[in-house]
Amino acid sequence: MGKCYPAVSEEYKKAVDKAKKKLRGFIAEKNCAPLMLRLAWHSAGTYDVKTKTGGPFGTMKHVAELDHGANNGLDIAVRLLEPIKEQFPILSYADFYQLAGVVAVEVTGGPEVPFHPGRQDKPEPPPEGRLPDATKGSDHLRDVFVKQMGLSDKDIVALSGAHTLGRCHKERSGFEGPWTANPLIFDNSYFKELLSGEKEGLLQLPSDKALLADPSFRPLVEKYAADEDAFFEDYAEAHLKLSELGFADA
Ligand code: HEM
Repeated sequence: MGKCYPAVSEEYKKAVDKAKKKLRGFIAEKNCAPLMLRLAWHSAGTYDVKTKTGGPFGTMKHVAELDHGANNGLDIAVRLLEPIKEQFPILSYADFYQLAGVVAVEVTGGPEVPFHPGRQDKPEPPPEGRLPDATKGSDHLRDVFVKQMGLSDKDIVALSGAHTLGRCHKERSGFEGPWTANPLIFDNSYFKELLSGEKEGLLQLPSDKALLADPSFRPLVEKYAADEDAFFEDYAEAHLKLSELGFADA
């Protein structure tokens, strides 16, 4: 797709492999895969295709970006990762945070998302207000994912399946509870739960429900609920694109 990845040194490649192993152990031990995936996504999801600003370029380490309302709680992720990052000074934060997102999906049983190193850290965080608002519907999702980030309808639905992991925290987003019965397992249960309707103890945000109401999104929800392999394949492709927004474009 016109990607032209930069060459990185052997030393850099070795550091990526070693950091990946460390992250596997650390994320499994701390059960923090959901938070790490949210960190990677909120880092990348600020990309604006028109101005080529924002995106997965390590700016989340800055207090200014952590202070954005949508990033409540991600200071914990940045703090947890710091002792591991310190062991790999050669790596950019940009690569390191995206690697953590890829590992989070892998260690919870999800698909393997390819990882290409070489992102460089940008000095300035993006402006606030680029991440999606959970109280809004499909028009808003398209404004953010398609118009701003340059992704597709299919990417929106596949990536939403990441809510198979984790939960909402009242003190972070104002919402409370998990989407699925096993929030530390990456599978297609998000789509199954979405189709089976709201249940005691499980949550559906307005932005989740928008996937059911929209005539282009809904058939994909049904496909992924019925066919986990199809979900994993489309998820891996969408996550790869997300993690490389603004990176290695020819
Ligand atoms: C489609 C638009 C999306 C909206 C409106 C949305 C909204 C939210 C909200 C409100 C939370 C709860 C935060 C908290 O209270 O801790 C959350 C958590 C989470 N989101 Fe999303 N999200 C979206 C897309 C995504 C995408 C694309 C991914 C990853 C590919 C993702 C991964 C996660 C994960 C893993 C958590 C759990 C974090 C934890 O347990 O600490 N979300 N999301």
